[in-house]
Amino acid sequence: MEGKDSSEEAVAAIEACYQGFNPAAYLQYNYTPPRADFQRSDSIVPWKLSCLHKAFSEGEMPLIIYAQRNDIDIPASWIREETAGWVKCALIKKNPTAWTEKAERLRSVVTDVLPINVHQPCPLPAGSIPSSGADCLVSSFCLESVSPDLPSFTRALGHLSGLLRSGGHLLLIGALGESFYLGAPGLQIPVVPLDEAQVCSSLRTSGYQLLQLSVYHLPPDMRVGVDDVSGVFFAKARKP
Ligand code: ADE
Repeated sequence: MEGKDSSEEAVAAIEACYQGFNPAAYLQYNYTPPRADFQRSDSIVPWKLSCLHKAFSEGEMPLIIYAQRNDIDIPASWIREETAGWVKCALIKKNPTAWTEKAERLRSVVTDVLPINVHQPCPLPAGSIPSSGADCLVSSFCLESVSPDLPSFTRALGHLSGLLRSGGHLLLIGALGESFYLGAPGLQIPVVPLDEAQVCSSLRTSGYQLLQLSVYHLPPDMRVGVDDVSGVFFAKARKP
């Protein structure tokens, strides 16, 4: 039997870190104030949401594939109404009525939760999306935190492109200058530190047309010890 090559080994090492990933802790770190403070226009989560809102208001991007395990991780059990408190703690805690309505709307539009492996040339199980490809993909804080290095990040972008139809859009959100984040108390998950130029060149190298790159610089009080991120990027790209 052939052994793993070094890049497969590096990916396997990152995969091993995720065995200890604690979604509730992760939500607490990144989706409560000060990072998710809707009273402040300079808080990270409102910034990310406004980028997504603008992108979806501007164009026709109806189909979203939600990536597992990270930012927009919606547990299948929650979709099936088996668990209630999971995502709730982070989002609309202060307004239970709005929370209930939003939860119902989300449940009614999400049709499935699928495993994805962006290091595989075909990241999704066969037959899970139309053969013509998806209209739109959204990935948030995923690729750089599962890639051991820049070439691996770039390859992952190329694999995602294979899931898009020609003319389809990728909305990519991620960390800038981050070398680790906490996936649980005391669990540092390695991240490939990216700068803006690398994000742009990786997108172009993997065949995307870059339509927009916006950057958020972290105010000092958002540096709360759960990572060493210096900024966040939002990229809107199109598959030609
Ligand atoms: N928000 C969600 N995930 C994050 C991460 N890994 N680093 C910084 N902010 C985040």
